[in-house]
Amino acid sequence: MPATQEKAVLITLFGGTGDLAQRKLYPALFRLFKKGYLRQHFAVIGTARREWSDAYYREIVMQSIASLSDDETEKEEFSSHFYYLSHNVQNTQEYQQLKELASELDKKYQTQQNRVFYLAMAPQFFGTITEHLKTQHLLTEQGFNRLIIEKPFGHNLESAIELNDQLAQTFEETQIYRIDHYLGKEMVQNINAIRFSNIFFEPLWNNKFVDNVQITLSEEVGVGTRAGYYDTSGGALLDMVQNHIFQILSLLIMEPPVQMDGNDVRQEKIKALRSLRAYSPEDVKQNFVRAQYTQSEELLGYLQEDGVVEHSRTETYVAGKLMVDNFRWAGVPFYIRTGKRLANKNTVIHIQFRSVDVNLFHSPTQVDILPDVLTIHIQPSQGMSFNINVKQMGLSNDIERKPLLHYVSPEQEKDIPEAYERLILECLNGNNANFAHRQEVELSWKFIDLVRSAWDNDTSSDLPTYPAGSHGPKEGDDLLARDGFSWHSCDTIYCPNE
Ligand SMILES: NC(=O)c1ccc[n+]([C@@H]2O[C@H](COP(=O)([O-])OP(=O)(O)OC[C@H]3O[C@@H](n4cnc5c(N)ncnc54)[C@H](OP(=O)(O)O)[C@@H]3O)[C@@H](O)[C@H]2O)c1
Repeated sequence: MPATQEKAVLITLFGGTGDLAQRKLYPALFRLFKKGYLRQHFAVIGTARREWSDAYYREIVMQSIASLSDDETEKEEFSSHFYYLSHNVQNTQEYQQLKELASELDKKYQTQQNRVFYLAMAPQFFGTITEHLKTQHLLTEQGFNRLIIEKPFGHNLESAIELNDQLAQTFEETQIYRIDHYLGKEMVQNINAIRFSNIFFEPLWNNKFVDNVQITLSEEVGVGTRAGYYDTSGGALLDMVQNHIFQILSLLIMEPPVQMDGNDVRQEKIKALRSLRAYSPEDVKQNFVRAQYTQSEELLGYLQEDGVVEHSRTETYVAGKLMVDNFRWAGVPFYIRTGKRLANKNTVIHIQFRSVDVNLFHSPTQVDILPDVLTIHIQPSQGMSFNINVKQMGLSNDIERKPLLHYVSPEQEKDIPEAYERLILECLNGNNANFAHRQEVELSWKFIDLVRSAWDNDTSSDLPTYPAGSHGPKEGDDLLARDGFSWHSCDTIYCPNE
């Protein structure tokens, strides 16, 4: 029997030769191995069409984890658990070999017939794989059977429902782990802790005390080698908003769950997403901004990127104002923005509280008291600051802004588990709180489809632009200025490393 924390499992990885597997999954599994969560009672079957031998596959695994340890014996011991089977997922006969190898490895490694099927492949194959897992009897009777899938979960509501229905033919919803790697990030997982374990936040977490909320996911990189895919698959709205931003939003707006388990947390997120105000095409025009980056000095514009179609109107930037129509949040705007080729890479949340009703601290040098702002830095810095007002030190009675800080130091950063490591372990533990439920996915598509169709039907308005490397288009700033707000920056709140 495995020791307490060790997991017994056979992982079948579809797409074992691919980029995700090599860059993220093998390193994540190795980290779990080093920490003892995976040890003797696990095996991995990597499959893809390429004709690789076990020996060659293990070499690839060794290369993926090369920088993670100097201990060659440890790395070899880890990769000896990896087996390769050349397999075309569309070929029914080939599942028989997979079944035989799986049974053999179940016995050899005493995996207790626990199986995880990880689909690191294009989503068009998900339906056929899960159907074959059922019809070709790859699911076990005694252990657990869990499915991990990667985004995108459809490209609109209709395709998401179709995909979810296909998966449901073989797996119960509780067995399906839809990965959104943002949910594996340290500070995203910290949102619940900040909200629900501090007496001074949860009582203020509502429309009586919160003035507005800002969520920014900005990227410094352009579309790069993904340009062709990005251009046809739907731009920033689909790449970042439908998944990562909506997941962060739902954690911020949900009600406290009864317990922090998958069922309760996901039910609260579903309820929260149901409260989002649906937008008409006119509302979309008022409340959403899309834009494209243009050439600036040595940085290419989007239209010059290799693989982008001529005159493409695909957005590389989105800003939006969302309203949550429930008792807790009525009237509070939630501003979101994301974009490529912006001035810096930064994922950050600002909760701006209301200002005090009476200002007792007027002075010639300071007229307004700034509102308190709770800032959660997700990446690249990880931590939080609570930006509050205090009296300046000394003889002056003026008020100044000071942050209360909690930040992860560069030394501590090394010990923070990588998102895939954390999420794979959560799946092995059967904890699906940090994986998207089908209803979360479908509710977010329902909203996104309204924006997408309003934009697709509007072919005549000019598409706003912003210079590559800038802070985004003026229209993104105007969205907040109309409500008397502005995006927080290092001028108004504490920024680490400034
Ligand atoms: N890469 C990332 O960082 C990343 C991040 C987030 C999400 N994702 C998602 O993860 C999935 C995989 O992405 P990826 O970047 O790893 O893609 P990739 O590098 O193109 O890998 C695709 C894999 O599928 C295999 N494959 C293709 N057709 C097959 C078939 N008919 N039968 C069996 N195997 C087949 C390929 O191997 P053969 O050619 O040898 O068959 C390869 O191993 C996608 O859904 C992607 O959207 C990726």
